[in-house]
Amino acid sequence: MKKLVSILLVLALCLSATAAMAAGKVGVAMPTESLQRWNQDGANMKAQLEAAGYEVDLQYANNDVALQVSQLENMILGGAQVLVVASIDGGALDTVLAQAKEAGIPVIAYDRLLTGTKNVDYYTTFDNYGVGTIQGTYVKEKLDLDNAEGPFTIEFTAGSPDDNNALLFFQGAYDVLAPYIEAGKLVVKSGQTTFEQCATPAWKSETAQARMDNILTANYSDGTKLDVALCSNDSTALGVTNSLISFGLTADEMPIITGQDCDKPNTKNMIAGLQSMSVFKDTRVLAEQTVKMVGDLLEGKTPETNATYANGVMDVPSYNCTPLFADVNNYAELLLDSGYYTAEDLAN
Ligand code: BGC
Repeated sequence: MKKLVSILLVLALCLSATAAMAAGKVGVAMPTESLQRWNQDGANMKAQLEAAGYEVDLQYANNDVALQVSQLENMILGGAQVLVVASIDGGALDTVLAQAKEAGIPVIAYDRLLTGTKNVDYYTTFDNYGVGTIQGTYVKEKLDLDNAEGPFTIEFTAGSPDDNNALLFFQGAYDVLAPYIEAGKLVVKSGQTTFEQCATPAWKSETAQARMDNILTANYSDGTKLDVALCSNDSTALGVTNSLISFGLTADEMPIITGQDCDKPNTKNMIAGLQSMSVFKDTRVLAEQTVKMVGDLLEGKTPETNATYANGVMDVPSYNCTPLFADVNNYAELLLDSGYYTAEDLAN
């Protein structure tokens, strides 16, 4: 009996020593609390890292690049052993990332690519071009562009120019629809077809709304119907929807409106018939993949990757999670049955 107790004791000691060795401090830098998904990303990362035994320093930077830089500096000084960074401006962090490299701290770009730097080790994200493909393909199929005569009208609203994802979302969608635009089956009445013309700095709903107000007044006041508002994500879709509502459209008259993230207000809009679709990117899955990567790095293993993203200086080894199409027909299964939201979250 005594022997058994001492064997168990030694075993317990070994196990806790391994746990202590594997555990470490992880700095998690998030861009802002003002857009819903980052709150979920932050909460998931913190919960999953803590469950795996890590100490977590989670910071939100209020969309302020200088603040994010100083938060990262503090994480480095505070003894973080890995940095997980969802940037505000992906191209603005090279100097602070060089400090991390100098201190031997690996850096994982989270969801948004860190660009123009060699001081990034890995990238976890969703297939960003694929998100745009899902949106473009939805429009193509909904309007039956290969068979319908058209022409249909479309306006594009893209994301923030300092976010590498924004260009990929736009390109993914545009590449599906470009042949129909070139053939005259889809008409962009505003003439705004480049990413730069359609971009929404900081992904702000208000900015997307103001831009769409101008487009509607200038091009659709004569009664021309807008058939499609291709919006890269939910925060821009929300602004565009509000603009269309104040232009006088009812739910029945709404164009096809695309989005991404399945934010709560947008999911409610899908249920109410105000937004056509969204793209679900399960932040729990991204957190899980990132936590796995953190663990591998701290244990000296090579993390699993399935993609690379060129950041202007290097090809960053990356892990792409899979984005999923969402609309009024499958939101319950995707969002409620999976426990992502509660029914109250989506109640009015
Ligand atoms: C994310 C999107 C999000 C957008 C605005 C992008 O980098 O990939 O999911 O909608 O930022 O927060």
